[in-house]
Amino acid sequence: MIDLNSLQEKFYKIYGNENRAPLLFFAPGRVNLIGEHTDYNGGYVFPGSLNFGTYLMIRKTTDSYVSFHSDNLDYTARVSFNDLKTKHNNEWVNYPLGVIEQLLKRGLKPGGMELLYSGDIPNGAGLSSSASIEIVSAYAFNKLWQGQISMLEMIKLSQQAENEFVGMNCGIMDQFAVGMGASNSGLFLNCDTLEYQMVPLHLSDYKILISNTNKKRKLTDSKYNERRAECEQAVADLSKNKGIKNLSSLSLDEFQESRSLIHDPVILKRATHVISENQRVLEAVQAIRNGDLREFGKLMNESHDSLRYDYEVSGVELDTLVEEARKIPGVLGSRMTGAGFGGCTVSLVKESEVEKFMDLVGKNYQLRTGLQASFYLPDLGAVPAEIELKKQAEDEAKAEEE
Ligand code: GLA
Repeated sequence: MIDLNSLQEKFYKIYGNENRAPLLFFAPGRVNLIGEHTDYNGGYVFPGSLNFGTYLMIRKTTDSYVSFHSDNLDYTARVSFNDLKTKHNNEWVNYPLGVIEQLLKRGLKPGGMELLYSGDIPNGAGLSSSASIEIVSAYAFNKLWQGQISMLEMIKLSQQAENEFVGMNCGIMDQFAVGMGASNSGLFLNCDTLEYQMVPLHLSDYKILISNTNKKRKLTDSKYNERRAECEQAVADLSKNKGIKNLSSLSLDEFQESRSLIHDPVILKRATHVISENQRVLEAVQAIRNGDLREFGKLMNESHDSLRYDYEVSGVELDTLVEEARKIPGVLGSRMTGAGFGGCTVSLVKESEVEKFMDLVGKNYQLRTGLQASFYLPDLGAVPAEIELKKQAEDEAKAEEE
């Protein structure tokens, strides 16, 4: 948990003027439970928002500059309004700058501001630190400058910011999961129509456990955009007889009938993953609704294996964590989460076995890879919000008393 009072002190140290208090906003990160690399194929996903995320302390100024500082990252910037369109290499400030560009397009009239970001999502861990920065920025700027932009629009514009300004061709899952959460629920989202339902996760004595490989990866440097192109190739091949909109237009059975239209074995594997993963999301959500956690875990395992062998976005570290997790009794399922190529796994673990899991998986992972894993037991369902600084201090005092 981030100490928000020392963040405020830091804010005053950077920007001065203690007589004018800043406002504080929060947006969560997300973990995807199942449905990987389906979002940009018009498919289904089933993520949940986390109780950790990004905080943004923000204050209006009377000049026409936006100042950026981060508690976690060294890079700082003071950007004039005439210069908002300039990209800053691969720096984090591109996320809020991209959001500002989109907000301007939608008629918001922001003025000068001082910003201090602080987050407790590990960067590059596949838990959507970037979507969290985008949504907290959109939410705060909209509030500060009296915009009328809905959460759904903020989700869409944040994805556009990432596609157009940052240059990462992501789908909509992350921004959606960060923007829409419900306590102890998964977000069952159709990424084609954007229809969604919050599905309560009755996990009885099981827990969602996240394991971090601590192998850093950069999404934009990864093979993400290459996978997207391969999926487009698959759509073109499968459309030879009858046009299809995207890979999710086909059921698994329909795909089996037309798979001979794809001649390249690599493209065939990519399509097999997407279409089977889509089917798994439907079955997984049904399993949760039926209270069948074993079935849910089995589908998580199948999802990982498909990402490993057919979509080829896993890696030694993720596979090692998953293999070690599956050896622990009381683990119903384990899979990589997010784009892959490093980052985190998500496992469904019996509560009484969580300690043992962390101990044994941690030890064996280190023996096999030389890396130290980290583990998180999240509460699912946080939503973007404004936080009253005074109230936070009171809550903390109360928690200490208890
Ligand atoms: C990243 C992207 C998402 C999604 C996942 C893979 O997190 O930002 O849009 O494609 O990878 O499921």
